[in-house]
Amino acid sequence: MKILVTGGLGFIGSHTVVELVNAGYDPVIIDDLSNSNVRILDQIAKIIGYKPAFHEFDLCDAKAVKDFAANNPDISGIIHFAASKAVGESVQLPLKYYRNNFYSLINILQAYEGSPLNFVFSSSCTVYGQPDVLPVTEDAPVKPAESPYGNTKQIAEEILRDVVAAGSAYKVIALRYFNPVGAHDSAMIGELPIGVPQNLVPFITQTAIGKREKLTVFGDKYDTPDGSCIRDYIHVVDLARAHVAALKLMEQSGFNGYDVFNIGTGKGYTVLEVISAFEQSTGKKLNYQIGPPRSGDIEKVWGDVSKSTQKLHWKAERDIDTMMSSAWAWENYITQNPL
Ligand code: WQD
Repeated sequence: MKILVTGGLGFIGSHTVVELVNAGYDPVIIDDLSNSNVRILDQIAKIIGYKPAFHEFDLCDAKAVKDFAANNPDISGIIHFAASKAVGESVQLPLKYYRNNFYSLINILQAYEGSPLNFVFSSSCTVYGQPDVLPVTEDAPVKPAESPYGNTKQIAEEILRDVVAAGSAYKVIALRYFNPVGAHDSAMIGELPIGVPQNLVPFITQTAIGKREKLTVFGDKYDTPDGSCIRDYIHVVDLARAHVAALKLMEQSGFNGYDVFNIGTGKGYTVLEVISAFEQSTGKKLNYQIGPPRSGDIEKVWGDVSKSTQKLHWKAERDIDTMMSSAWAWENYITQNPL
């Protein structure tokens, strides 16, 4: 069965393409290469043995999307990753985020409107803001977004829920990711931040390999065991497999409508714990300093993943050491084999 993967050359998208093939699906990638590298297609081929179908165009171009759908009517599902996703940038450039993230979503939904498709949406735990109760469950109140990026995820979920409520032929599952980290165990694909990494783990690996002088830990005066922020880090391969589980759930006759699932491990780690896990799993000493808190950061969040285990029949399997060692293997690979 053909599955359309928008943003399929990105970090999570590329890992999901691999897991789709492993599960017997036939992925078709759309990517505008605004935040990804076309050479990832060759890297995916090294893992699955062939280059998946790839179409380069901007999903904000309604005519291009309509033309694609007219030429590709035979898809059974869509996994929609394509979006701008840098929290800090979204505060500086809100219109870029609202335009890109909503035009692309609405164009793809309209292009296949009426087709009984299974639609998986890439959402984020950002929708919870700082939860009042931890671990956070899917029915926790969605709080005012901390950034335009987070707001686009909240509103996109509402758009999808309303489309389903209006009697659309789509079945929809939104996956609320916690913090995706790590890389495929082949070290052929991984996170490819453009410029200075915003996220913790690529900054750690780039510091360890010498591309960055030192890591700054953003604050150690939070109300946590060691004062640094807590997040629920999840291995990107486990995350990719959750998308396959979502398609399988929607393919069952009992599933109709719209549902949401937390995709995390259910366990939180502080920044300092992640650093020590990296040092232990790689044997590399990390050069870091404690700096001031980063504005917009929430203090602590980790997910209640019981609904995903019970209803999505999915559970994360990789531990923090595997997350760190796979991220390190990828950093070494990409440093020796720049794309
Ligand atoms: C994790 C922790 C930082 C860098 C964001 C988005 C989320 C998702 C993942 C898209 C925090 C600390 C970080 C550094 C540090 N993105 N940190 N020094 O902010 O939890 O989540 O990225 O979907 O939606 O909100 O991830 O990796 O930036 O930060 O101390 O150099 O690491 O303060 O506590 P975050 P992150």
